[in-house]
Amino acid sequence: MTKSDSRVLRAELLSFDADPGDSDTPAPGSVRHIADGALWIEHGRIRAVEEYTRLAPTLPPDTEVIDHRGKLIVPGFIDSHVHYVQLEIIASYGRQLLDWLNDYTFPEEQRFADRDHAAALSDAFLDELLRVGTTTAQVFCSSHPASVDAFFAASHRRGLCMLAGKVLMDRHAPAGLTDDLEGGIRDSERLIGDWHGKGRLGYSLTPRFAPTSTRAQLDAAGGVLRSDASLWVQTHLAENTGELDWVAELFPGSRDYLEVYEQSGLVGPRSTFAHGIHLDNEMRTRLAERGANLAFCPSSNLFLGSGLFDRQAARERALNVTFASDVGGGTDLSGLATLKAAYQVGQLRGQPLTAWQGLFGLTLGNARALSLDDHIGRLAPGMDADFVVLDPAATPLLARRTARSQSLAETLFALMMMGDDRCVAETWADGRLQHRRDG
Ligand code: GUN
Ligand code: ZN
Repeated sequence: MTKSDSRVLRAELLSFDADPGDSDTPAPGSVRHIADGALWIEHGRIRAVEEYTRLAPTLPPDTEVIDHRGKLIVPGFIDSHVHYVQLEIIASYGRQLLDWLNDYTFPEEQRFADRDHAAALSDAFLDELLRVGTTTAQVFCSSHPASVDAFFAASHRRGLCMLAGKVLMDRHAPAGLTDDLEGGIRDSERLIGDWHGKGRLGYSLTPRFAPTSTRAQLDAAGGVLRSDASLWVQTHLAENTGELDWVAELFPGSRDYLEVYEQSGLVGPRSTFAHGIHLDNEMRTRLAERGANLAFCPSSNLFLGSGLFDRQAARERALNVTFASDVGGGTDLSGLATLKAAYQVGQLRGQPLTAWQGLFGLTLGNARALSLDDHIGRLAPGMDADFVVLDPAATPLLARRTARSQSLAETLFALMMMGDDRCVAETWADGRLQHRRDG
């Protein structure tokens, strides 16, 4: 062991062991909070989480201690749904989903046929994720296998835990983005062979959404999933009313949008359905019974005018809800900004989001729903050393606000409403410092 493998960070520590529930007071045993804590990391893992004054006397004498008193360490944030290939079309004006796809998204994604462009944007995207404290994401690449190779290679170099996949489309998209049936599946299988389970990477089968796949392509994707239950699935579901009408027209043999995916065997415990705004309770129950999750993408839903997600209806049916940025439909990669938008959507529905529920969601909640909680999502011995050092006094106004806080809940809520990349003092992943804020 080299000396640099083992180090301790001294700071306030916050992590969740269970869902804190929706009330203002977290459920007993759900929150682990240490005001003066020590996070001991070694070989990319967490070795101990303790009161600093208890751990200090037991440390080997040459252990490096990084003093972050005044800062708050939480597990690395997880983004359950985001498109790296849309990074540069974030904030494109004035369209709703289907026009936005045609006018901005499809032209942009065609640029990812170019390997060098894909490599450059992969690095730019990962830099941005780390800047906002996100250490794991489930990522749409483009339909070009080179875009997936580039993204996985960049993630692997940095030792990041990432899920990603090649978009499958075999209709209703420009020729430069569509697969033929066999080619799309063959490319996916090659990418699975090269990347799934390599280091901290996992493959997510990625049929874009029902309108851009034929039934044959959806069935073939379901066939790949049946051959390996350790694969993930990511797609979109019931985001926009125009989309709903189109799906009903294209799939007259399905009684609703969800059944299109069910009939192809794509709904399972490792399936993430982005949005799910326009669902009824019966569909929510069917999703819950399969252990799938809905990715709530509030900044995207507001930006594209898609609708107000009903988080409570999902939770009442024990349907997993994850938090996601959905950039480039979303307007901010920051997990804290996503929570702010989720709070605002919740307010318009009479379902305000507590800071407990928000921070749980970004960490352990998302990890669990994505079946990644055996190694990320908590500050606990044996977990991967992925975490964020937050600065509750990052800006003059935030410092004023948090100085007035009477409780941790109040400080967390201020961070959730006012926080962005400026609050992320450092981001660590795989036991390595991967981002430090300037200044
Ligand atoms: N539905 C199908 N493709 C997309 C996409 O790229 N973004 C969003 N928000 N919805 C989609
Ligand atoms: Zn999306």
